Amino acid sequence: MHFQWYPGHMSKAKRMMQEDMKLIDVIIELVDARIPLSSKNPDINQMAGSKSRVILLNKCDLADDSQNLKWKEYFEGLGYIAVLVNSKKGDGIRKVNDAVMEACKAKIERDRRKGILNRPLRAMVVGIPNVGKSTFINSISGKAAAKTGNKPGVTKGKQWIKLNKSIELLDTPGILWPKFEDQQVGLHLALIGSIREDILNSYDLSLSLITFLTKYYKGALTERYGITESDIPEENLTAVAKKRACLLKGGELDLEKASGFIVDDFRNAKLGKVTLEFPAEPAEDDVLPIKDK
Ligand code: G4P
Repeated sequence: MHFQWYPGHMSKAKRMMQEDMKLIDVIIELVDARIPLSSKNPDINQMAGSKSRVILLNKCDLADDSQNLKWKEYFEGLGYIAVLVNSKKGDGIRKVNDAVMEACKAKIERDRRKGILNRPLRAMVVGIPNVGKSTFINSISGKAAAKTGNKPGVTKGKQWIKLNKSIELLDTPGILWPKFEDQQVGLHLALIGSIREDILNSYDLSLSLITFLTKYYKGALTERYGITESDIPEENLTAVAKKRACLLKGGELDLEKASGFIVDDFRNAKLGKVTLEFPAEPAEDDVLPIKDK
């Protein structure tokens, strides 16, 4: 799905999210493991206040295993409970229930002291378009998911999916917008294919990708296309075009076509498992508020 955000979309999404947040105890936020920061909404911390937080590094099957672990640690350092997930195959899904319980430990304890026992925790899934929210909800709820909340014929109110005796999940995810005014974010989102490509043509996209790969994933292009990697991105693109016989009618190389191959191969992890962002020192604002015990 390709999504275009306008200010109207954003304020509507924000309003809906804020309404839904009143109903829940814990936010399950999905990011794309290949670009955990670029796929994160910039305003979620402010909207979430002191709600419990779980972050899922989804599509971890497409991302670099060693970076996956570093990102998990990074988010744990900020106060999240972080889980690596492949929603498509179901890997890591079973850990999410435990993660929710862990994130809500203080709340469960508070409830217990007040004599409130066995009240299910209510959770909501949020994330930018295309990050895998629907796939995740389907995966965690399974076919036997029981819906609670609405009686037939009653249109108002929310649908809750009962995951087990302790957790209920809002059946519609919250759609967040990315930090798209940032150029690097735009590039990353375009590379993973979650924003319209016309913002950046595939030629420019592939050159950025080639530059990144030859610096951080040396050998990935050689492995896939059998080319000798050069420090000059255009030379690599030309070499791929030759190897793949991407030719225009007059016999000239079709660099646009070769660019498309490279970007598609990256999206399908045919260039290997690649992470486009590496964790750095987090900013103070990114640390979650410490919850009362
Ligand atoms: P959204 O609700 O957040 O918008 O995302 P959605 O679930 O529609 O998923 C967007 C795309 O990402 C889908 O691919 C989905 O299959 C894929 N996806 C979701 N989670 C994972 C994951 O953990 N790993 C991988 N590799 N892919 C994942 P699609 O091409 O749009 O559809 P389809 O071809 O899979 O049917």
